[in-house]
Amino acid sequence: MPIKKPRGVPDILPGETDRWQHLERVVRELAHVYGYQEIRTPIFEFTELFQRGVGEGTDIVAKEMYTFNDRRGRSLSLRPEGTAAVVRAFIENNMYTWPQPVKLYYIGPMFRYDRPQAGRYRQFHQFGAEVFGSTEPGVDAEVIELLLRFYKILGLKGLSLEISSVGCPECRKELTDSLVSYIRPQTAGLCKDCRDRVDRNPLRLLDCKEPGCKELLREAPTPLDFLCLSCSAHFAALRQELLALKISYNINPHMVRGLDYYTGTSFEVILPGIGAQSAIGAGGRYDNLVKTCGGPPTPGVGFAVGIERTLLALEEQGIEFSGDTQPGVFVVAVGEDAVRHALRILQALREAGIRADRDHANRGLKAQLKQAHRRGVKWVVIVGEEELSRGTAALRAMDTGEQVEVNESELIPRLRAWRA
Ligand code: HAM
Repeated sequence: MPIKKPRGVPDILPGETDRWQHLERVVRELAHVYGYQEIRTPIFEFTELFQRGVGEGTDIVAKEMYTFNDRRGRSLSLRPEGTAAVVRAFIENNMYTWPQPVKLYYIGPMFRYDRPQAGRYRQFHQFGAEVFGSTEPGVDAEVIELLLRFYKILGLKGLSLEISSVGCPECRKELTDSLVSYIRPQTAGLCKDCRDRVDRNPLRLLDCKEPGCKELLREAPTPLDFLCLSCSAHFAALRQELLALKISYNINPHMVRGLDYYTGTSFEVILPGIGAQSAIGAGGRYDNLVKTCGGPPTPGVGFAVGIERTLLALEEQGIEFSGDTQPGVFVVAVGEDAVRHALRILQALREAGIRADRDHANRGLKAQLKQAHRRGVKWVVIVGEEELSRGTAALRAMDTGEQVEVNESELIPRLRAWRA
């Protein structure tokens, strides 16, 4: 029996990787332009980091982590998201002593044990950005602008930005009490998950997608009703900044992110029509997280984009990438000496940065040409005994069938000129 891969962890096959590489190039160029430096953190961390950072009461930590003991019995978890790990690295490497703000980005796989469906996987990838060391609302706006610019460069349409503020722990204390008193008499009408949430994580009641719960919570108190003066001023300033950058948004008072570290600004980019999973990117401010993880008090704000969801959306909107723009050359040779010589030509082409390949199965001339055709190459270089004796090669354009004999020294300049 062949062994299959676990559910919800897709292979990314040749052919699909062009799209990934294009997207990754966009990320890197954009990060460079906005002054973000790349960070790569490990795939697994001590479980405690996520318990403390993301929050033990969250679904992500309580139900969705891949947790295991190593050989010495220490509990490790595959990272379910990037922020906590970047914060850990920020503290561990004393980045708080660097010139602030420190602006970082990452691309990599994350792991969550959730029910797989279109746009939701157990291994998925995120592009994330995090800024440390500034409470300025202008930084929140920059991060949001970067996120939207990313989608714009890719050509995605129909996105909407939703923003809110979840307030600081002070604002939230009152909110939680008020929310619980509001919902307590109506718990019988809630879904099973929400009945659990009333005691475990009442804020999450606000963004339940079940129609019954939505209805019951329509008039419920939200974080925006309880913002303290400072949170309220920060949120107002952020809206001004967005206005100045001509970024339109909807305020969604019911937005509650599924991670406990948020304080103040929170946002999601929504794209209707990519299945049940409509958030293709999301983030917010986490001014207490560095401290919670054992570092000096340092504010932070950031986002993460779901790469698979972004690619799905691009596909649904029929947005194609040009993929590999190199022509591709196939070197065809017949006869022992010619084959040996063809190897040197192949080496020279590759050295010159031209994508080139040859037959590896001792096929005859016709069969080699057929191979070239099947691979969709644009040009074939043919070396036979006669060409060999004359120091030439035949160059054939596959689309027109046009063939010319050129001196070997002309081969590379000719291919380069055709490519341009
Ligand atoms: P998140 O909302 O949990 O936030 O995830 C961010 C994005 O990752 C989602 O909007 C979605 O596109 C994608 N995503 C999440 N789970 C899955 C899944 N199972 N399959 C496919 N895509 C998924 C965070 O992770 C925070 N760390 C974001 C952040 C950074 N906040 C501040 N800085």
